[in-house]
Amino acid sequence: MIAEPTKPAPFADPRLPERIPRHVAIIMDGNGRWAASRGLPRSEGHRRGTENLRSTIRAAVEFGVEILTVYAFSTENWGRPRREVKLLLRILEMVIDRELRELHENGVQIRHIGELGGIPENLQRKVKQACEHTKNNKRLILNVAFNYGGRDEIVHAVRRIVESGIPADQITEETIAANLYTTGLPDPDLIIRTSGELRVSNFLIWQGSYSEYYATPVYWPDFSRDEFLAAILDYNRRKRRFGLTDAQIAGEDVVGEDDDD
Ligand code: FPP
Repeated sequence: MIAEPTKPAPFADPRLPERIPRHVAIIMDGNGRWAASRGLPRSEGHRRGTENLRSTIRAAVEFGVEILTVYAFSTENWGRPRREVKLLLRILEMVIDRELRELHENGVQIRHIGELGGIPENLQRKVKQACEHTKNNKRLILNVAFNYGGRDEIVHAVRRIVESGIPADQITEETIAANLYTTGLPDPDLIIRTSGELRVSNFLIWQGSYSEYYATPVYWPDFSRDEFLAAILDYNRRKRRFGLTDAQIAGEDVVGEDDDD
């Protein structure tokens, strides 16, 4: 686990609010439509989307976000045309080849979430090496969800729990959380989805139970630093109650305080 939220530097953007979400997750949607709206091939949308991921990582570091989780390839994306699947696998490889050094120098710890076994072996090796190489970095944890599906993740967790032989009556929410790909990390505070769709799309379905959701019509390649900042400012206007009352959240009331007994 990494340390307390980074305090924005004195020269930080004055628009940055006090409360920075520790963990931000992003459904990077709309690469294809971004390209189609410009008469370009979908591959160009993915290329621009990849460039945008780089600037978003920079912005996350600048804002003091501790964990950034990005949805790069879902378990359902295997159903896309073969050529596009190959391109997305190639993009992951290129990102590792071209960006690993800079990410490492900037203190980014790369983690993979999803079913690694489902991707080609040479790429599996590269992903593992990138994670190993950056494992001691503390500035930002970058979770790359690749061949990831929330339901698949829960099935995977249940299998591990059964295999471990834990008696059924000892299985708690903590047991399940500890067996998810995100084990040891706090749940996302803010989940952003670009391109105007209002769907969860099998992303962090367990971890997102109490996340704040933010949707923007902007396609992923156009999701700029200022759009990211707008999402964080919007998050700051939310009241997170986690099922409790306003008074309890304000510390003015405690559970059972006005009970008669
Ligand atoms: C959604 O656009 C995006 C994806 C399916 C993933 C592509 C993500 C990137 C290129 C960013 C970096 C990737 C990696 C591997 C780190 P879409 O194709 O669903 O767009 P559409 O809904 O408009 O068709």
